[in-house]
Amino acid sequence: MTDFAHTAILGAGTIGASWAALFLASGRSVTVYDPAASSDIAVRTYIDQAWHTMSDLGLTARGNPDRIAFVNTARDAVEGAGFVQENVPERLPIKHATFAEIEPALASDAIVASSASGLTLGQMQTGWDNPGRFILGHPFNPPHLIPLVEVMGNDQTDPDVVPAAEAFYEDIGKVTIRVKKEFPGHVANRLQAAVWREAIHLVQSGVASVGDVDKAMAAGPGLRWAVMGPTTLFGLGAGSGGLAAFCDHFSDTFNGWWEDLGTPELTPETSQMLVDGLADATNGTSVEQLAAERDAKIVRLQIALAHSGKGA
Ligand SMILES: NC(=O)c1ccc[n+]([C@@H]2O[C@H](COP(=O)([O-])OP(=O)(O)OC[C@H]3O[C@@H](n4cnc5c(N)ncnc54)[C@H](O)[C@@H]3O)[C@@H](O)[C@H]2O)c1
Repeated sequence: MTDFAHTAILGAGTIGASWAALFLASGRSVTVYDPAASSDIAVRTYIDQAWHTMSDLGLTARGNPDRIAFVNTARDAVEGAGFVQENVPERLPIKHATFAEIEPALASDAIVASSASGLTLGQMQTGWDNPGRFILGHPFNPPHLIPLVEVMGNDQTDPDVVPAAEAFYEDIGKVTIRVKKEFPGHVANRLQAAVWREAIHLVQSGVASVGDVDKAMAAGPGLRWAVMGPTTLFGLGAGSGGLAAFCDHFSDTFNGWWEDLGTPELTPETSQMLVDGLADATNGTSVEQLAAERDAKIVRLQIALAHSGKGA
């Protein structure tokens, strides 16, 4: 298997800086390329802050935050790297230019994973002469805190590459799923989009306020979904008969609700309705305060899940 002791990060903004922190925490060395002025300072500052969080999660025992280097080209960054995580802006010409630049410099057994959220693997593969060792490794923001990575290869991918990438991600504390088919938004973002669509529909229909819809999610299904997925949970919803009994009992109910779900659009009016509703619900709490509360609670939740044998 490829030696992943040395890694590279291409593009070190929101996602790349967080991946860099996690790769370092796992004991890997990291070389970073980002053309932005002073990106080295920004990345080091980000890593300093992320290190405390990762320590609380028990992710830093093998790591050293100083094993990071910054270089002036993408090509230099991938020299000698076993695993390359690409996080350049979500624009196909930039992705293609990056792949064309690095391909001649890659080790023959290196794996390159793209963090792309919206572009498909197929679109990005056209930037390669040989895309056999190039895959999708889509994280959830921020990668050093949220375990999920969606991994995808296809018929152009060498057969050993997806399993090797999954093993790497799991070694650094991630939870992986395999995406088997190109679908815009992959899996987790589509699930979020489906739930948010109905949340907006409920507010637009006057059923509940923005604050109460959010409360209903966080205090109800959201708490259960941090532990198990919806199908597993519904399999526990009809006693010892399991999922078959649940489907039998509730098929009419769900089919009726599905018929009735809304299809709102994010127009300027909808957006203003949500902004006003959120302002009422959060009562002057700043975005920074809410983000800090979210991150602290996610860390505590993950520690609790780890102690019960689940999660990171
Ligand atoms: N932000 C998210 O929530 C999120 C979540 C999952 C995946 N992603 C994906 O991660 C990728 C990066 O997104 P982001 O949110 O970190 O964007 P970002 O704008 O925060 O960071 C992009 C970085 O790339 C740098 N850059 C610009 N041109 C470059 C080049 N030619 N080579 C190397 N670096 C270059 C920029 O200076 C910047 O620091 C995108 O494909 C995005 O879809 C984002």
